[in-house]
Amino acid sequence: METRNKSSFTSSLGFILTAAGSAVGVGNIWRFPYLAAKDGGGLFLLVYLGLVLTFGFTLLTTDIAIGRRTGRNAWHAFGAIRPKWGFLGKLTFLVPAIIMTYYAVIGGWVLKYATVYLCGQRSQPAQDGYFIEFITSRVPPVVYLLVFLAITAFVVYSGVEKGIEKFSKVVMPILLLMIVGTAIYSLTLTHTDAHGVTRTGMQGLAVYLIPDFTGMTFSKFLNVLLDAMGQLFFSLSVSMGIMITYGSYVKKDVNLEKSIAQVEFFDTGVAFLAGMMIIPSIFVFSGTEGMAAGPSLMFQSLPKVFDSMGAAGTLVGATFFVMVLFAALTSCLSILETLVSTCMNIFHTDRKKVSLVIGVISAAAAVIVCLGYNVFYFEYTLPNGQTAQILDVLDYISNNFLMPLIAFLTAIFVGWVIKPQWITEEMEEQGAKFGKKRFYAVMVRWVVPVIMAILFLQSTGLLAKISTFIA
Ligand code: PFF
Repeated sequence: METRNKSSFTSSLGFILTAAGSAVGVGNIWRFPYLAAKDGGGLFLLVYLGLVLTFGFTLLTTDIAIGRRTGRNAWHAFGAIRPKWGFLGKLTFLVPAIIMTYYAVIGGWVLKYATVYLCGQRSQPAQDGYFIEFITSRVPPVVYLLVFLAITAFVVYSGVEKGIEKFSKVVMPILLLMIVGTAIYSLTLTHTDAHGVTRTGMQGLAVYLIPDFTGMTFSKFLNVLLDAMGQLFFSLSVSMGIMITYGSYVKKDVNLEKSIAQVEFFDTGVAFLAGMMIIPSIFVFSGTEGMAAGPSLMFQSLPKVFDSMGAAGTLVGATFFVMVLFAALTSCLSILETLVSTCMNIFHTDRKKVSLVIGVISAAAAVIVCLGYNVFYFEYTLPNGQTAQILDVLDYISNNFLMPLIAFLTAIFVGWVIKPQWITEEMEEQGAKFGKKRFYAVMVRWVVPVIMAILFLQSTGLLAKISTFIA
């Protein structure tokens, strides 16, 4: 039974832009800035950068090398290396299957906002309650989500080279240009509020970049670390099989170490620029209080900022949401591609049929998640104390529970069962140099398993139970 993937990227640039397309998403533009605002600006940036260069590098290298060496998706890859570890492939497959259902819902929200701004409306989305009213309504969010999913499914249906790679090669450079332009623009803003206080974009930049240690305690620092770690997984799309699939499409003559560094650079660069675009503008129009908005930052606080900009706000708002839409589409593509590619190998059917079937199943699941704000509404308290609806519960299961668990098991598998040498050989294919070979081995054998175990215990609430038991 052949389970190897037959598709491949045509060039190393195609691979880098497609992998970056998966990595750069709503997480970079929405989640990263609000976490940075909440967690002491520059302090969060420093912690995050440290994690990218250590954990990000190790996990991304592991996924991509496993994908290229086995030529398979996660589902079959682990079992092909060691049959006893086949379960890890199935567990890994669960993550994109879960994320798909709610990422498409968020994609639908972004599509709605992009449409509203493109239609020239600026003051409506700035009204209090606009967002809640939209997501709790029954029909519109479902319609937007279905359109978003249909676009994604169409690109996946068109294949790897003609669909995904081509789409990413066009969209990613545009996204980068738009984000650089908007970030520079936000530094030029000034605004005087009703109390006569004038704030500038450059002051906002200082708030973003200068570490804020006020009231910092060890446990607060631990929280910053956990936030940054969770963000890193989600942002780099690691430990969920996606980069294993993309790795399986990479040709042997591509230098993996270099490409991985470029993907990390792209992903972190966009997150950094997104913060530079959002934090100063929120600061200028709403002061430091506005920055604590958390998840509502993108859909509630930013529209108010665009509205305060006057006529320019419509254009800036439209540019912003089109940018987020591109980012969300290329990420959702990678999730759907992983599901489709895996099912093609399991059921031995062709891409077109599988894309349609998985597209329909995903749509049905996403509609249920979308109706979690009205028909299926409930309030559930997560181990971290947050009140959750269906979308948040799924997000918590995939990001806080499954991802650290999978990263832990994968690190044990690579570090102790097949040994880091297995990855190193792939990294050195065709005479390529793997400069960080030793560093990788130490990370994957020791550091990643220990930290992932702690993270897993923390996010399941077990760490708190253990510490009260000991104390
Ligand atoms: N990395 C994407 C982001 O930062 O938004 C999100 C993502 C893409 C998550 C693909 C999961 C995934 F499988």
